[in-house]
Amino acid sequence: MKFHLEGVGVAFADRRLFSGLSLTLESGDLTALMGPSGSGKSTLLAILSGLMPPGEGTRRVTGAPPGEQAVSWIFQNSPGLTRRTVLDNVSLGPLSAGATRQQAEDAARSALQLLGLGDLAGTRLFRLSGGERQRAAVARCIASRADLILADEPTASLDARNRALVCQALDAAARNGSVVVVATHDQAVAQACHRVLDLPALAAA
Ligand SMILES: Nc1ncnc2c1ncn2[C@@H]1O[C@H](COP(=O)(O)OP(=O)(O)OP(=O)(O)O)[C@@H](O)[C@H]1O
Ligand SMILES: [Mg+2]
Repeated sequence: MKFHLEGVGVAFADRRLFSGLSLTLESGDLTALMGPSGSGKSTLLAILSGLMPPGEGTRRVTGAPPGEQAVSWIFQNSPGLTRRTVLDNVSLGPLSAGATRQQAEDAARSALQLLGLGDLAGTRLFRLSGGERQRAAVARCIASRADLILADEPTASLDARNRALVCQALDAAARNGSVVVVATHDQAVAQACHRVLDLPALAAA
């Protein structure tokens, strides 16, 4: 499956974020999207997801039936069901992608292992630290096996070891066939990606 942007441009009121931006992302790609705060990284993720129609240019998906791509987001402060367990929260990813309860739990347990949260599966979400919640949000996304995984600053409150776990999990998702895009300010995350897109440079090209 491939996601193509062609000649995409965005302007809000009198402020132009970028214009004439073209790129193709395909299954197996793990791409870092970098650029200063306010350069439009989150906006570009929203365009890639299909949630935000580009003001200029087009978004196309090839290699999949129209409208049938599954998209999964990781936000910096991903909401969750705070009174349910970590396992329930992570299972929601695959459940909403159509998995059975058993498949969803199996996928959730292996994603939690990958992110070093195996021992917290039965803990209710509100008991987790900020960084543990962030990793649980990554686990939910990975477990969903979505076609397109968009991670917006997924390592913002993590130490080096847990940042490495997130990078490994995103890499595993790409190897499983997802298209993975990570908006980040973190050089260590960029180094773990297969490709780095610098938004200002991309928009000027
Ligand atoms: N719906 C909107 N209406 C008006 N301006 C917007 C809208 N969405 C985003 N912007 C503006 O566009 C600019 C880019 O925002 P965006 O969130 O994409 O940046 P970013 O690169 O993700 O920044 P950060 O690294 O701080 O997360 C910002 O100045 C923001 O205020
Ligand atoms: Mg942003």
